[in-house]
Amino acid sequence: MQRVDLLIHLFSILLYIFTFIYFFEDLVFFISLQAIIGLLYLIFILLLPFLARKTSLKAFKILLGKRMWLGIYCSLFITTHVIVALGEFYSFDLSLLLFDLSLLAGFVAFLIIAALTLTSNKYSMKVLGTNWKRLHNLVFLALLLILYHSFNLAVYFVKDLIFLILLALSLFVVALKILYYYLPRLKQKKQ
Ligand code: HEM
Repeated sequence: MQRVDLLIHLFSILLYIFTFIYFFEDLVFFISLQAIIGLLYLIFILLLPFLARKTSLKAFKILLGKRMWLGIYCSLFITTHVIVALGEFYSFDLSLLLFDLSLLAGFVAFLIIAALTLTSNKYSMKVLGTNWKRLHNLVFLALLLILYHSFNLAVYFVKDLIFLILLALSLFVVALKILYYYLPRLKQKKQ
């Protein structure tokens, strides 16, 4: 195993274990912590191509090749948030999600992220072909849904200034996607 892989595993697993300190102390804080860490992983993963291209830091280029693992840890935090929140607040009654737009947005975002995690491997890329890229572009929709969800439900982190910072970063990520992916393709089609 390469040293970078080891660092990613160590950092993520230790961080995950650390969050469990709050599991018995303050469950709502634990749920929020899992959510915010998952969201930060997600934004970081989406920023990586830009950081690798625009900065001279080699670390970003190396991490770019490790997105699959970062994505798996991102899902681990998010899935923990979803399962514990569903159990604690809604007794696993999924029908309740239908009556609250913010929850529904979170649920749809969760389904997208689960689909992306399950297809983040070479076998799925081969099977899905060009649809793989289309499916993975849904991550930007998931990001916007999460922002809507978290802004309406936040108890601890996603408030005021932090929300604005997350919003700015997310819009930046979406703008980069349009600038470096959709616009060049549109130009190519016109030519
Ligand atoms: C069925 C799916 C989901 C349910 C039932 C759910 C439930 C909740 C609840 C009850 C809260 C308010 C309590 C708290 O802040 O701890 C919350 C906040 C939050 N959720 Fe979710 N969530 C879901 C999906 C997601 C997903 C996929 C994400 C992606 C990262 C996410 C991110 C957040 C964030 C960032 C907050 C605000 C945390 C804070 O600042 O306090 N949620 N969610």
